[in-house]
Amino acid sequence: MIVIAIVSAKGGVGKTTITANLGVGMAQRGYPVTIVDLDPQNAMQWHLGGLEQGERNGISLLTTTRAKLIDACYTSPYGVDFIPYGNGGEVQRMRFEQLLEQQEPWLRKKLQAAKLPANAIVLLDTPPGPSVYLKQAIHAADFLLVVVLADAASYSTLPEMEELISTYGHRSNSEVGSAYIVNQGSHRQLAQDVVALIADRLGERMVPYIVQESPQVEEALAFERPVLEYKPDNPAAQTIQKIIDWLLAGLKGGR
Ligand SMILES: Nc1ncnc2c1ncn2[C@@H]1O[C@H](COP(=O)(O)OP(=O)(O)O)[C@@H](O)[C@H]1O
Ligand SMILES: [Mg+2]
Repeated sequence: MIVIAIVSAKGGVGKTTITANLGVGMAQRGYPVTIVDLDPQNAMQWHLGGLEQGERNGISLLTTTRAKLIDACYTSPYGVDFIPYGNGGEVQRMRFEQLLEQQEPWLRKKLQAAKLPANAIVLLDTPPGPSVYLKQAIHAADFLLVVVLADAASYSTLPEMEELISTYGHRSNSEVGSAYIVNQGSHRQLAQDVVALIADRLGERMVPYIVQESPQVEEALAFERPVLEYKPDNPAAQTIQKIIDWLLAGLKGGR
């Protein structure tokens, strides 16, 4: 099992979109994929379909000692298993956050107890910035993917994200590996300049493929489908496929 957490300092950078599509593309390559939505916005369901209307179960409802991840796991029509955040109301959310606060590493233990196949890939989607979810995700993860936009505001959040990773990221003695995905790249000069600055600062930790800004990414969401399935020829979809190959090659080589 490999656990990859998708994180960001800012909201609205494309984490959920990228997580869903990475998962779908990995499943297309034959890996058993489980996507876990750790964001109270509970938005992963809109990318993956497969939930009945009014379905409320999810990871945030698994607060009893005996609860297992499988109890809240759904199968997406796009080839992945997924665990929504769930919608148990505000009191339940607070109960879940309290449990995550007190029981470290709750998520890692639950994932280990799930006994997924050796080649399984687990993707953890998270809310932006510091939170109990980010902390649990970093502790559970073997690798972190940070999503940033090709804009000046995202560039200015790099030190903040690096600090969060190093604060939460120490597991035994080995620091968890990480790489940055730049999303919504464009031909505009400012976007190009920011990408150059990010590359300069991060070197090999910047994923060498920039996900293009594309209206079809938004469109796919409107149809509640991952863009990899909705428009496989779309440039952003093709870039995500390249990122998957880059990532898998690196993880096998011990990135
Ligand atoms: N490459 C892209 N091109 C165009 N729109 C995008 C792209 N990536 C994400 N979006 C749009 O940006 C919005 C925020 O994306 P989302 O994945 O929900 O971000 P986050 O999870 O970081 O908050 C969504 O409306 C999504 O469709
Ligand atoms: Mg999101």
